[in-house]
Amino acid sequence: MIESGKGAIVKDIEGRQYIDLLSSASATNTGHAHPHVVKAIQDQAEKLIQYTPAYFANAPAAKLARRLCALAPINGPKKLAWGNSGSDANDGIIKFARAYTKRPYLVSFMGAYHGSTYGSMTLSAVSLNMARNIGPLLPDVIKVPYPDPWHRLDGEKESDFVDRMFAEFKRPFETFLPTEETALIIIEPIQGDGGIIKAPTAFIRKVSEFAHEHGILFAIDEVNQGLGRTGKWWSIQHFEGVEPDLMSVGKSLASGLPLSAVIGRAEIMDSLDAPAHLFTTSGNPVTTAAAMATLDVIENEHLVERSAKLGEEAKIFFKREKAKHKFIGQCRMYGLDGGIDIIDPMTNKPDANATTKLIYRIFELGVIMISLKTNVLRFQPPLVITEDQLHQAFKVMAQAFSEFEEGKLSLPDNADNIGW
Ligand SMILES: Cc1ncc(COP(=O)(O)O)c(C=O)c1O
Repeated sequence: MIESGKGAIVKDIEGRQYIDLLSSASATNTGHAHPHVVKAIQDQAEKLIQYTPAYFANAPAAKLARRLCALAPINGPKKLAWGNSGSDANDGIIKFARAYTKRPYLVSFMGAYHGSTYGSMTLSAVSLNMARNIGPLLPDVIKVPYPDPWHRLDGEKESDFVDRMFAEFKRPFETFLPTEETALIIIEPIQGDGGIIKAPTAFIRKVSEFAHEHGILFAIDEVNQGLGRTGKWWSIQHFEGVEPDLMSVGKSLASGLPLSAVIGRAEIMDSLDAPAHLFTTSGNPVTTAAAMATLDVIENEHLVERSAKLGEEAKIFFKREKAKHKFIGQCRMYGLDGGIDIIDPMTNKPDANATTKLIYRIFELGVIMISLKTNVLRFQPPLVITEDQLHQAFKVMAQAFSEFEEGKLSLPDNADNIGW
């Protein structure tokens, strides 16, 4: 049970301290209880906590809308709609895309996590727990394969891999999915819960060009990977020349207070009227004041550059550990955003048991780290983590890796409850 947090440190109710390599699932990029964000929340709470934007605008939300639209990697006039979570923002994308194109079909990618409302959950394809026993899900959603490095054949060149995956992507459109009835293609340019996997640039380019050739809207989900996480403001900025029509933002936007947004080209956003995508508390004065302060912190403390710089240090650390330990497979790192595969060296297959042992030991040693896809270490510290804290976390991970190599790690009886 967590009691308090400051920067990259959290304390539990028994007073134990942990270095946080999870950032509340990438929702506290500015760190825990950043003083500038705390003050903005306090000041605003004294003035006005809530008046529903369904009926009256409020100053923090109006200012933030302007600032966020200016930051969004979309050219031309833009508008946004507020929400309370990344999930509802992705539902918003579905609604705006269908309303604007007047087409029903939606395309998303395997391995995606877009959220937990019915629409965003239907777009997702990362866990059977998100489909089992709760159907029927939203109709007319088609899943296509994401160019996951695990699918790359031995010796296959990147360009051949891209061609093969793009052919797979097009197959539904050639057999059962009419392009002229397709509203939307939505993608995480870097998959988060799918294992911190960056699609090849050429693939993203081909998919967005395909969308635009056929009047299909191209949307990106920046809920997990946005706001400096990957060493750029937005993960799509790793893919030069690719521009979305719509995007979703959430998680770290208000340093973890519930606030999300769908941002899109104005003509698309004009295709729905209230209350088609409206929530009583979304875009309220406190969450939007917190978001204004969050953007101040990211800019003033140069957190985007900091993420890129410290990410390079992390890359070196994991590369060094990989050279020492055969159970460490591919290490992907984009800013302070890493996915480290744990494999069985005999088979080169994912090793979920080893991964659980590692994260449990790392936790015992005072560092919070979880797994993705059962065998990927998730590395997403707050972007304000100090160099000392980062090096301390490296030391702890290196110790756990060595202890595992020496066969010293075991799991507690309740190991089944670790992770999801
Ligand atoms: C990429 C992505 N999109 C959407 C969501 C859903 O956000 P929320 O849990 O705030 O609804 C998540 C949450 O993990 C996510 O990682």
